[in-house]
Amino acid sequence: MILLTRRQFALGCSATIAAGCVCNRYAIGDSVRFDTSLPIPRLIDAARIGNAINLRVAPSRHAFVKGKTASTYGYSASVLGPVIRVRRGDEVQITIENALDRITTVHWHGLLVPGDVDGGPHQPIKPGEVRRLALKINQPAATVWFHPHPHHDTARQVYMGLTGMIIVDDGSSAHLALPQTYGMDDLPIILQDRSFEPDGSLGYNPSPMATGYGSRGDTIVTNGAVRPFAKVPRGLVRLRLLNGANARNFDLRFSDERAFHVIASDGGFLSEPVGVSQLKMSPGERYEILVNFADGKAVTLGTGPDAEIGLFGALTEQAADSEHIPVMRFEPTAVPPSVKILPTRLVVPAAADPRAAVARRRFVLDSGMAAGSDYCGSGGGKMTINGKSHDLARIDATVRLGTTEIWEIVSVGMAHPFHIHGASFRVLSINGQSPPAYLMGWKDVVLVEGNAELLVAFNRPATREHPFMFHCHILEHEDAGLMAQYVCER
Ligand code: C2O
Ligand code: CU
Repeated sequence: MILLTRRQFALGCSATIAAGCVCNRYAIGDSVRFDTSLPIPRLIDAARIGNAINLRVAPSRHAFVKGKTASTYGYSASVLGPVIRVRRGDEVQITIENALDRITTVHWHGLLVPGDVDGGPHQPIKPGEVRRLALKINQPAATVWFHPHPHHDTARQVYMGLTGMIIVDDGSSAHLALPQTYGMDDLPIILQDRSFEPDGSLGYNPSPMATGYGSRGDTIVTNGAVRPFAKVPRGLVRLRLLNGANARNFDLRFSDERAFHVIASDGGFLSEPVGVSQLKMSPGERYEILVNFADGKAVTLGTGPDAEIGLFGALTEQAADSEHIPVMRFEPTAVPPSVKILPTRLVVPAAADPRAAVARRRFVLDSGMAAGSDYCGSGGGKMTINGKSHDLARIDATVRLGTTEIWEIVSVGMAHPFHIHGASFRVLSINGQSPPAYLMGWKDVVLVEGNAELLVAFNRPATREHPFMFHCHILEHEDAGLMAQYVCER
């Protein structure tokens, strides 16, 4: 086996994996320029417009880099899409028009809806087609999202810009007096990475090697802008963080190492704010955090290097301290904050008793990149779950509606972010240890390096014709077959 540090790997293989290297061109701090104001996606408050929403999936152009435009896709936007706020208990009518020249789907990631409206690969929307569907919102407050999920074309469509956020509101933000003024003290932060050609265009053309580990860009993009800044009030600000990258894991921290509080994960609020000074996020994960800007000092949010790229992760420990990549800057203004006090209690999540689980299953996620494969070469073998690549015609598991099961997830070769549609889970253990406090709430994605035990609650139906997916959320892995399907029936 060849031992390389991640840096050597990035340099040595950069010719073949331009989309796979982690470049370190900027040091965190003041020498970096932040001259674009953070774009805030348009908010659609569904209840205010009769719970009827139109989304047009269409090609567009967007300037990620000032003065240079790239061909993109967007949901009624030049890139990304609106942030849609929905209320628990409402039924929302969605009309989707596919103005692309290829099949797409719109998957409601984290929204607990039945399999036939989940937007997976079994509900393709053809070019020119208009699809109408109704989504009954019935889950606790959470930050969820939407993205395409077409058979074998998810990674490219997301990379081209198709990502949107949904805020599920059940009144608890008001009740808890949390920041909730959209665009002021409640900010959507969609984190992605892209590589740009010299003319500013997006080149999505991953080599087999980049596909093998997932495609990583060399530039961090936040809400569609490179190194933006946001003016914020001098008080508590809520950031709704979404890792919308195809493959990159973020390791977020502030330049002054200030502590901040995690208040919610994928499925909703934690029982109390959890103080941290660093936060790892794998693709598909969401966290809501509260950051205190009362000291009035400008501060940079940065990420560490992605330590999880394959077996190289274990070799980069020393490098990890010395490399920081700036993501965006926060500049407190004189605007008086609406919230200054951190709540001590949030919402106790619905109980989850592992003893009530009716079954135990084990799924082995394998990207075919285990020891012995040629790192700079072809990108290794088959992407499988329990030895099988995804097949639209095969049902891999049948579960009973209203039950819980323990799913043991095992990653082979590298860390895989594991995601389940139509269900949420509690993390019981990670590599035999109980999870850190911020991973104690309901989730739908978890990064598994080694193994994890999950207590999964199945509360939405899915038929054979419209099964739910479960898969690795590295989109190149999903497209290459690291995905399986389950049915959920009474
Ligand atoms: Cu966010 Cu099956 O996906
Ligand atoms: Cu994977």
